[in-house]
Amino acid sequence: PDQIFGPGRKNSAGVDLTDPLVRVPLMERLNQMRELTHEAQPTERAKGEHPVRRITSPHDDRIEVGVVHEATEGAIDRAMEAAADAQPAWDQLGGRARADMLDKAADLFERDAELLFSMCIREAGKTLPDAVLEVREAVDFLRYYASEARAKFTHAIPLPGPTGETNELRLHGRGVWVTISPWNFPLAIFTGMLSAALAAGNAVLAKPAEQTPLIAAHAIRLMHEAGIPENICQLMPGDGKVGAELVAHRLTAGVAFTGSTETARIIARTLAEKTDGPIVPLIAETGGQNAMIVDSSALPEQVTRDVVSSSFQSAGQRCSALRVLYIQDDVADEMLRMIAGALEAQTIGDPRDLRTDVGPVIDAGARQALRRHLDWLEHHAKPIMVRELPTGTEHGYFVPPAMYEIEHLSQLTQENFGPILHVIRWKAGDLPKVVEAINSTGYGLTLGLQSRIDTTRRYVEKHARVGNLYVNRNQIGAVVESQPFGGEGLSGTGPKAGGPNYVERFATERVTCIDT
Ligand code: SER
Repeated sequence: PDQIFGPGRKNSAGVDLTDPLVRVPLMERLNQMRELTHEAQPTERAKGEHPVRRITSPHDDRIEVGVVHEATEGAIDRAMEAAADAQPAWDQLGGRARADMLDKAADLFERDAELLFSMCIREAGKTLPDAVLEVREAVDFLRYYASEARAKFTHAIPLPGPTGETNELRLHGRGVWVTISPWNFPLAIFTGMLSAALAAGNAVLAKPAEQTPLIAAHAIRLMHEAGIPENICQLMPGDGKVGAELVAHRLTAGVAFTGSTETARIIARTLAEKTDGPIVPLIAETGGQNAMIVDSSALPEQVTRDVVSSSFQSAGQRCSALRVLYIQDDVADEMLRMIAGALEAQTIGDPRDLRTDVGPVIDAGARQALRRHLDWLEHHAKPIMVRELPTGTEHGYFVPPAMYEIEHLSQLTQENFGPILHVIRWKAGDLPKVVEAINSTGYGLTLGLQSRIDTTRRYVEKHARVGNLYVNRNQIGAVVESQPFGGEGLSGTGPKAGGPNYVERFATERVTCIDT
């Protein structure tokens, strides 16, 4: 088999925004794209009426970015049938041909990178540095899963047996997968789940988040341009009802979901109650109550930089983001002063402006939930730093970045998906209690540790039940193949996106035993 693993594949280079020769002309071109409008519609669009909805910018709801035609029940049925009919030929095409198309799609994503940046900024409220990372991650997923298809879906794996008997295992697509992706990585996670399912020989009906269908529609156009047949890779834009219908459909052979723990449970329940069609596996990547543990051996400047980026970059809208900072009390006052100072220096505002560090949250519902939590904190916690929103943010969904000190982790009963950091002090000798408190949330996504003490790191490694532990760095921005990403417990079913055991989970295994 051809082996294009590891050294043969590179992650994408991205864009060097520190170089003015790159940055200045890029900003000019992005400014020229400000007026563009976009459209998303179901790939299955020949017949049927599709209700239309306007998509506006999170930073200013007077700006229309485009319109989406949502999938109707009839469209879902036709799309499923077309996908199910087309899937066996796609599976039989083999991993090499599928990989070539995924690699081609990666090239096309890079060709259209600037348009994709512009869409990330205007549709999802991302800053340019976040948009650059987003497109890189999508490209990396495409190329990595292409390499996985070449390595694992082009040949049979020989298995042992007695003389005269040949045993072989092959991986095949399961049928039609439904992927349901979130708005916080409207391109990267959308493309990641989609391309893994395609690499494994499945047809896919991809439902983007209802807030961000436009960039997903462009991704699908590029997949088709790369040669992936329309029936194999279909966009199904719509709200939760469309997602529910896709999950419950008798032809659905697998569901990959990234979003809230609550929705993952609803999907699992729907799949368990199905009475027709196959028994359907669920891959879910859900929320977190992510902590960072800082002890007195940590470097204050590093802690400051890493806490601010982990909590406030992307306006805190990453499932990996830091929510609860455990800081050892001997160093707490000094470090909290530094972190508050760094938070005060963050620029809040229009994500189209390169000076902006913290942009808007995604929509009115998110803003309302976060405001409710800020109200609660106002009455139950001690403020360390609460930013004022600057003028010019009135038409967008902005939430003031804030840090509050609380007494116990158990006071937080839900994930707060935005720029709010909770701080808890701990005493030397209490590390086991801290780790136990973090484990007892039931979530297990990311954990940060800032410490120069080896025994502390080993203790945390051994006892913390989390998917991704980051030591002496920020805890966001997992890199494809280097930090496979995903959690356990309430944070998801595993396996890890961008990791070596992911693509197989979209496949079924078949064994042939030949006796002479
Ligand atoms: N994969 C993202 C990160 O690591 C989280 O959603 O930040």
